[in-house]
Amino acid sequence: MRANYDTLAKTIAALTEGEEDEVALMATIVCELHHSDDRFDWTGFYRVTGPEMLKIGPYQGGHGCLQIPFSRGVCGAAARSGEVQLVADVEAFPGHIACASSTRSEVVLPVWNGAGNLIAVLDIDSDQPEAFQQEDADRLADLLAQVFSRI
Ligand code: SME
Repeated sequence: MRANYDTLAKTIAALTEGEEDEVALMATIVCELHHSDDRFDWTGFYRVTGPEMLKIGPYQGGHGCLQIPFSRGVCGAAARSGEVQLVADVEAFPGHIACASSTRSEVVLPVWNGAGNLIAVLDIDSDQPEAFQQEDADRLADLLAQVFSRI
C-alpha cells in the first residue's frame, strides 16, 4: 500500500480544520500518514523545545529517543540546516541515531509555522532500503505547509 498524497491532503484538511494546537495537529497527521503506507515503519514529530534541542512529539511505531540535540542524527541535520534529509541508506549517514535496528532508510522534513519559525521536524523511518524518493519529500513538505503555515 502506497500513500495517496491527494487523498491524505484532503483528509488531513478536513480533520484539522479550525484546529490550532500544534500537538493536536501533529498527532492527527502522524496517525493519518502512518496507516497510509507500508513503507512507514516509524512516523513521528520531534518538537523544537529549546535552543538547539528536539524532544519527542506525537508518533506511531516503536519507542523513539526522547531528545535529540540539533548536533545529532538525521533529525538534528534537518533542524540545523532547515533542509529535507532524504537518506537512502542510514548506515551511510554519519551520526545516524538507530532507535530501531531495523531502520534502513528515512526522510526527515523541517516544519515551520506561519511566522517562519522552525517548530519541529517530521521523521519517517522505513525498514526498506531506499524507500523514499524526492516525490515523497515534496508531497510531504506540501502537506506540512498546508497545515502548519496557518498557525
Ligand atoms: N532517525 C532518527 C532517529 C530515529 S528515532 O529516534 C525514531 C535520526 O537519526 O535522527
